[in-house]
Amino acid sequence: MKIFIDSADMNEIRKANAMGLLDGVTTNPSLAAKAGRKDFEQLLKEICREVNGPVSAEVVSTDTPGMLAEAEKLVKIHSNIVIKIPLTEEGLNAVKTLSGKGIKTNVTLCFSPTQALLAAKAGATYISPFVGRLDDIAQDGMSLVSEIITIYRNYGYKTQVLVASVRSPMHVVKAALMGADVVTIPFSVIPQLVSHPLTDKGLARFLEDWKKLQGK
Ligand code: G3P
Repeated sequence: MKIFIDSADMNEIRKANAMGLLDGVTTNPSLAAKAGRKDFEQLLKEICREVNGPVSAEVVSTDTPGMLAEAEKLVKIHSNIVIKIPLTEEGLNAVKTLSGKGIKTNVTLCFSPTQALLAAKAGATYISPFVGRLDDIAQDGMSLVSEIITIYRNYGYKTQVLVASVRSPMHVVKAALMGADVVTIPFSVIPQLVSHPLTDKGLARFLEDWKKLQGK
């Protein structure tokens, strides 16, 4: 399973990349705002210099011509840019056109299996089900992921399932068990994936025994 970081904060992106776990990056307007990055193009250039993998950049137009115009500009920034498009009718039109031109797309804000099916039919490269936001309204976000994987397998769609709005290590474990293609995780989840109390306890004991052996 590929791991992307869901962040527009260069410090976070650099730290995650240094750990050797990054296959790509996803951004969105909220993350850019959180990181205080108005200079979106410059930010994308910095990310593409740092990470050698797909970098999702979201359009902010809501009409197809506007989305396509933004996409044309964004793809010129770097060959790793993937155009992030919201799952609306206008968005699906844009995905259809972009996929016809060989431009990669990440269809975002997916909350239902029918939306995912239509995104695949339009030729999306990635579909992004938002699992945390479904959990927030007492629906099981990971069930949606499971349904999408089944539907895509049933018909051989090549669209990759990118699990987004991840909030906890359990989302990552379930995604991996289900065979999702990608998870995009906020920086805060990384330490939760790494640390285990028995690792810390075991290491402390190893070091203690080593000291004893040295007569310290
Ligand atoms: O990848 C989508 C993500 O940025 C949304 O996450 O936590 O705002 O639902 P969240």
